[in-house]
Amino acid sequence: KMNAFVTNLMSKMTLDEKIGQLNLVTMGRPITGSVVNNGVEERIKKGEIGGVFGVYGTEYVSKIQDLAVKESRLHIPLIFGLDVIHGHRTIFPIPLGISATWDMALIQESAHIAAKEATAEGLNWVFSPMVDIARDPRWGRISEGSGEDPWYGSQVAKAMVKGYQGNNMKDGDAVMACVKHFALYGGAEAGREYNTVDMSLNKMYQDYLPPYKAALDAGAGSFMSSFNTINGMPATVNKWLLTDLLRKQWGFKGFVVSDYTAVNEVTNHGLGDLQTVSALALKAGLDMDMVGEGFLTTLKKSLKEGKVTQQEIDIACRRVLEAKYKLGLFDNANKSINADREKQDVLTDENRQFARKIAEHSFVLLKNKAQTLPLKKSGTIALIGPLANNHSEMLGTWVIAGDPEKSVSVMEGVKNVVGSSVNILYAKGSNITDDSLLGARAFPFGLNQMKDKRSPQELIDEAVETAKKADVVVAVVGESANMSGESSSRSDITIPENQRDLLKALAKTGKPLVIVLFNGRPLALPWENEHADAILDAWAPGTEAGNAIADVLFGNYNPAGKITATFPLSVGQIPIYYNHKNTGRPFSGKGPAKFKSDYLDISNNPLYPFGYGLSYTTFNYSDVKLSKTDLKGNETLKATVTITNTGKFAGEEVVQLYISDPVASVSRAVKELKNYQKINLQPGESKEVSFNVTTNDLKFYNNDLVYDWEPGQFIVQIGTNSNETHSASVQWSK
Ligand code: IFM
Repeated sequence: KMNAFVTNLMSKMTLDEKIGQLNLVTMGRPITGSVVNNGVEERIKKGEIGGVFGVYGTEYVSKIQDLAVKESRLHIPLIFGLDVIHGHRTIFPIPLGISATWDMALIQESAHIAAKEATAEGLNWVFSPMVDIARDPRWGRISEGSGEDPWYGSQVAKAMVKGYQGNNMKDGDAVMACVKHFALYGGAEAGREYNTVDMSLNKMYQDYLPPYKAALDAGAGSFMSSFNTINGMPATVNKWLLTDLLRKQWGFKGFVVSDYTAVNEVTNHGLGDLQTVSALALKAGLDMDMVGEGFLTTLKKSLKEGKVTQQEIDIACRRVLEAKYKLGLFDNANKSINADREKQDVLTDENRQFARKIAEHSFVLLKNKAQTLPLKKSGTIALIGPLANNHSEMLGTWVIAGDPEKSVSVMEGVKNVVGSSVNILYAKGSNITDDSLLGARAFPFGLNQMKDKRSPQELIDEAVETAKKADVVVAVVGESANMSGESSSRSDITIPENQRDLLKALAKTGKPLVIVLFNGRPLALPWENEHADAILDAWAPGTEAGNAIADVLFGNYNPAGKITATFPLSVGQIPIYYNHKNTGRPFSGKGPAKFKSDYLDISNNPLYPFGYGLSYTTFNYSDVKLSKTDLKGNETLKATVTITNTGKFAGEEVVQLYISDPVASVSRAVKELKNYQKINLQPGESKEVSFNVTTNDLKFYNNDLVYDWEPGQFIVQIGTNSNETHSASVQWSK
């Protein structure tokens, strides 16, 4: 039916109208490059535009949609996209935080609520999920993904796509997902934004490509090409990537949009003028050109000159029209435009409750000396730090429609949760940063940096005096929202220096020091880990930030999040990730040794390994029991551990299964995550947790890029994080 409909429509379209469908323009935020589109409204009527992004709100969207549907010759509806990344109006934690929940039902629901709110404001397409594997926390966009692990990243990718698209994209509360950034964007050299990617095919297939494939298999309707080059060829004009891999090998049937002016930027990569690179992009398999209008302005000429074919233009046009068809826009272009829903479905109490819950589940307890946390709901607390009484930084990066003023500050949250039973003192203590360069770069959208007129020393003095009057100090410190996200790479991934000065002064008071950390990336925190009594990683928690933080600080919820990207000891260890390969001279793990693959001045171990996160309670793991130690062919292995809650609080634990393949035809990762279960245990309670392991879990890409398993020994490891596991060995023959 779709085929016949689109064929019929295309038979009526002029060449210009077909090329117009390939043109995506922005009419509002975000503007993330030097080019903006002009005269959009008139050009929609002429059929020069296929989609618009940056516009939301029923009134605005319906006005623009009407230009296409009522005033253009063929009445073809526009597709409306937006960067809905972690919620639309109700903002959830940044994706790196969401990934720390290890709870796919919550993750899927977060995408579903985002879709519900976005559709209530006229949107039908979201530029999410970002599924780029990232192993370099200097890269600011690590905040927008699910960390370093391909298997785990694949689970999140699937959950997000299902949450956005629902069962049928025609449904009024479903949007089309756009999987980004295809591909390997997270592999940018030196963690520097937009930088070159050079990677072996083996590493690509094994470690970086799986989440894109998982999103595709979950039915994702569109992909976005990435800014970077891949082994010398920009992704946006990369035929191997966009056609051979994505369509021929993987069977993708949707459409591919470029990133913001990425087609034009191929000229900077050195592949020719705009006409040349636009033709290259179309021929490579790119269907829609974001903002740069290279397709619009050059494809007709290229067709005349024989540089592209009519068929290539038709294929791209068909894919865009099919997406609109799948979304039901030809049946009802205004299907999402509903003023009642805009009032009823957006930022509801229910959505805020969910935001509070998912934020609590995303927090990771990094340290808790002598049960400093949870705090007593009595006595005097000093809430200190530039993020303690703040709204503007609670939502994190990539928030287009969310209103920071609607967020709950930490101060408000603490008051909401403990009322007057706790005496709360406050001092700002420092600015977010006094580094003018970092400050300027970190606030590109003109957000108020909230610079205090007082000198750094005056701020610290006031904070110290305040701390001295309290029983415990809660320092809310870290990165501002725009210190991570697009174009926010940092070469120094510590807490900004002035805030560290504040922490040092607070530690000297001798009062118990709790750090509530805001961060869009793993930070290097060796000093904080040594001197703070407790560290709660809150990422950027979203609209319900303060309520969620207070719930956890005061023990209404026992934190259970686990980090999905390794926290290094220092920037010099980067890239650092748990599933690395062995060298010929493996690291001993016992400190620097000469003629081993070690640093002289620092351990190879990270500060916090992948999968790490504490609880207010403690869990004991038994040894691993295997159903068999000799297996053949397609048998299933059952690996079981018993976990006991040995502490005083009820709590959840993410039980993680890793597998090592010590001998293979290629050098394999030292271990790889293959499964996990999140369980809940009352104090004193024990539970058996069993994993079924099949030969699917043993497969890998060999040197010929064949995905299969090889017989031999496997080590099954189960534990609380990637570094603390119990293991058992098994032989598996073909
Ligand atoms: O969706 C984003 C992308 O992730 C980075 N560049 C801009 C796009 C549209 O805003």
